[in-house]
Amino acid sequence: MGYEFNYEEKMGTLLISDEDFTRLVRFVQRNYGIDLHQKRQLIQSRLTATIKGRGFSDFKSYVDYLLLKGSGDDINELLVKLTTNYTYFMRETDSFDYFQKSILPQITRRKADKTLAIWSAGCSSGEEPYNITMYMMDYFGSQWGAWDTRILATDLSLGALEKAEKGVYQLPENFPEQWRESYFTPAGGRRYQVTKQVRNNVIFRQFNLMDPIQFRRKFDVIFCRNVMIYFDQPTKTALIRRFYDATVPGGYLIISLSETLPPNLPYKRVSTSIFQK
Ligand SMILES: C[S@@+](CC[C@H](N)C(=O)[O-])C[C@H]1O[C@@H](n2cnc3c(N)ncnc32)[C@H](O)[C@@H]1O
Repeated sequence: MGYEFNYEEKMGTLLISDEDFTRLVRFVQRNYGIDLHQKRQLIQSRLTATIKGRGFSDFKSYVDYLLLKGSGDDINELLVKLTTNYTYFMRETDSFDYFQKSILPQITRRKADKTLAIWSAGCSSGEEPYNITMYMMDYFGSQWGAWDTRILATDLSLGALEKAEKGVYQLPENFPEQWRESYFTPAGGRRYQVTKQVRNNVIFRQFNLMDPIQFRRKFDVIFCRNVMIYFDQPTKTALIRRFYDATVPGGYLIISLSETLPPNLPYKRVSTSIFQK
């Protein structure tokens, strides 16, 4: 007795009951495809401040509120706390190189209307779609202006999208100097802003990947990297089938080098983490 209390309680972390844990995990999984069933500690540690800050005394009242009356902002706050927006420029350059050297020459050859449709699904704070734009500008060179290359970039997190729209970043060490000079302007200290020309090539929208895909056009290339890591297998399979339907024949899906596709999907693998319809 006396000193044998729970470490979390001592630190002021709220504990979640089995019942509330199950309710919360099911809710998030059903609506957002995110699998939290092994994240009990994370839920407790990351949500305690939110719950207290919102004036709730325990997980039960917070989960009751969320499931019955939670607004889009409440859900957004929850998901931001429980997932990661971690991203950076020049991430998995092998995939970008393949995109530039193999995919672009192939798809541009058959495009009489000079229009490409590219989607960065789960774009976080924008580094990925801006980076894709830079690879395309580099590829097209003086022909850039003749093509419509606008990228649709979507994410669930409004905070990440806000940062993306601003386009101000600290660049990683390995970022090519020539690209920094061509595609950024200094923004104070070690920060740089993506040029207007690059920013104008990307259209940011909030979109939940659990929702039906009803964009006007089908895509030539879909990038969905480091997003499905949160999803369970059935959610992943269903999403990839929706991607397939939203892709033109011969179009591509690019996932992260650390991910694999579930079996029995109609895509043909053409390179590591790159698949063709
Ligand atoms: C780790 S970041 C990946 C960013 C970028 N694609 C990359 O590879 O660097 C994962 C992003 O997926 C988003 N995300 C997670 N679940 C989502 C969902 N159901 N719908 C849309 N975006 C989601 C998160 O908000 C986060 O910004």
